[in-house]
Amino acid sequence: MTKRISRLVQCLLLLVIPSLSMACQLKEAMTPEAIYERIKPVGTIEAEGGLVAAAPVAATELSATAGEERYKSTCAVCHETGVGGAPKFRNEADWKERMTVGIDGMLAIAIKGKGAMPPKGTCMQCSDQELKMAIEYMIPQKK
Ligand code: HEC
Repeated sequence: MTKRISRLVQCLLLLVIPSLSMACQLKEAMTPEAIYERIKPVGTIEAEGGLVAAAPVAATELSATAGEERYKSTCAVCHETGVGGAPKFRNEADWKERMTVGIDGMLAIAIKGKGAMPPKGTCMQCSDQELKMAIEYMIPQKK
């Protein structure tokens, strides 16, 4: 009989001790300090490197590939294959006549739109500078 009870106690202890120690670990892990320590590094990097520093750069200067990016994201839809009679990408014959007005002349036309060419080539959020860079990218390149 006593043997049976001690067996039971042993069993109970085996059950209780691990769950107690688990509960202790959990409690430690869920303190505000412990949580802050775990999430802190991510928050710091974003605040210092990403958001704060990136904003002024984006507002003042465009990357050298901005023209290529705008062309690919908006203008290429028509200008890659010449949809609606659009002058094709870097095609000498298509652009020769149009280039006689100069880059600023072409920019003015692109902003206003012309025939099947919608104003700003549908890139309404593009600045004049971005449109200009896109045009410079899509016309035949000087050799
Ligand atoms: C929906 C189709 C379409 C999209 C999108 C489009 N274009 Fe055009 N584009 C045209 C067509 C069509 C013409 C020819 C218009 C004409 O001569 O009647 C043209 C002509 C032009 C010309 C020549 C204007 C001239 O001097 O005669 C420029 C420059 C130009 N597009 C720039 C752009 C730029 C930059 C973008 C992107 C931001 C763009 N286009 C997006 C259809 C498009």
